Amino acid sequence: MTIWTPSLDDRPGPRYLAIADALANDVARGALSADSRLPTHRDLAYRLGVTVGTVSRAYAEAERRGLVRGEVGRGTFVRAPAAPDAPPIRFGSAEDGDDATVDFSLNCPYEPDDSGFRATLGDLAASPDIRALITFRPGAGGRFHRAAASRLVARLGWEPDPDLMAITNGAQHALSAVLAAVCRPGDTLLGECLTYPGIRAAAELIGLKVRAVEIDEEGLIPDALAEACASGPAKALIVQPTLHNPSTATMGEARRDAIAEVVARSDLTLIEDDVYGHHPTTPRRPIVSRIPDRTVFITSASKCLLPGLRTGYLAAPPSLHEAIVDVIRTTSWMASPLEAEIAARWIDDGHLDRIVAARRRELARRAERLRDAFAGIPVRLPQGSFHAWVSLPEGWTTESVRAAARDAHILIPPTEAFVLGRTAPPRAFRLSISHTSRGQYDEAIPRLAGLLRQPRSRSLAVI
Ligand SMILES: Cc1ncc(COP(=O)(O)O)c(C=O)c1O
Repeated sequence: MTIWTPSLDDRPGPRYLAIADALANDVARGALSADSRLPTHRDLAYRLGVTVGTVSRAYAEAERRGLVRGEVGRGTFVRAPAAPDAPPIRFGSAEDGDDATVDFSLNCPYEPDDSGFRATLGDLAASPDIRALITFRPGAGGRFHRAAASRLVARLGWEPDPDLMAITNGAQHALSAVLAAVCRPGDTLLGECLTYPGIRAAAELIGLKVRAVEIDEEGLIPDALAEACASGPAKALIVQPTLHNPSTATMGEARRDAIAEVVARSDLTLIEDDVYGHHPTTPRRPIVSRIPDRTVFITSASKCLLPGLRTGYLAAPPSLHEAIVDVIRTTSWMASPLEAEIAARWIDDGHLDRIVAARRRELARRAERLRDAFAGIPVRLPQGSFHAWVSLPEGWTTESVRAAARDAHILIPPTEAFVLGRTAPPRAFRLSISHTSRGQYDEAIPRLAGLLRQPRSRSLAVI
């Protein structure tokens, strides 16, 4: 570990900024070399006479500026500076929003290590057949990319036929394409009464009616689904059986069997959205394996690889495949072959396994922090989940907690955004544990917990 004790004497202002500025200065003048390990938070705090929280904030700020990276179980390391004459990415971090705000509203993974991405871009640039990536590919995507996608899905316990797969620009694109292929304006879509907001948005875009189906701790309830089917015609059902967004519910085998039975008795097309399926250490066999002729299965690179890789995968029954590929052609001709190629290489060369393993470790570390900080506040946060589902302590409402968090420069999403149909929002909120840098997370989680513990007066009687 590097012994680094910066002098802060001539640096006025907040101590955490002074430390981050000193770090930037020492990296720039070469006093701290690439990959050197910085002192632990406790050690540096002791030597500078500041609190551990101040050092955590300083390291979070340095991480945000791209000066350091945190590695699970190993510590904080100085990053290699960018090549001085390489042109910057033009939208860079300037478009990433307000730096002082900690964003717990986005369910996308934070990836501190970009070395694999750089290396693969280098390999591709040196590849003799790079021309394959600069021209049109078939609407369903290249055969090699579909085969890699099939191998990815096979890890869950069901292997789709690559000829019945299609590559899309992300799972959101896949969801919209399937809905547009299966439904007509005015048709009814069934879905969980709380669900990922992108589903409602896609349904609205096509002019679908939605009918909400009750959920419990295991997700969609089979009897409630049967009732919803009996209450009027419906075209399709969207369901998230694993690490449901937002409630975190995962269906067991019996629940999956029961849902498949209800769908098999109906005229519904099942759309199985499984973007989180690769993160539980015990994979869950998808529902599609039980009723492949009635189901379109969807997953993507955004959670198990990188959110900026806009590559989604779907597996469709023979009766729907061509209609869905037609929509892909109509909406974007084909998915980006460059990104599909990167994802396919990573599925096969072990990079995906390394990313998922590191992400599981980091999510577990963050979950532990959250459970410690939130002790006494009911939180659902199963292994592998990118988000927690937090029940509101007495006195809080979903609006008041959001406003108070915003005043503390913490973003949480509105619970209403997850509500399908006319269901009243529950007294809970989704807290994404995956998106912020590690430093920001560790600093802000105890602050948010402290805020939730503050007693809230009941609303005053109207005078
Ligand atoms: C349940 C669910 N489905 C689909 C998506 C969209 O995934 P993608 O980023 O691949 O478009 C998300 C993104 O958060 C999600 O949570």
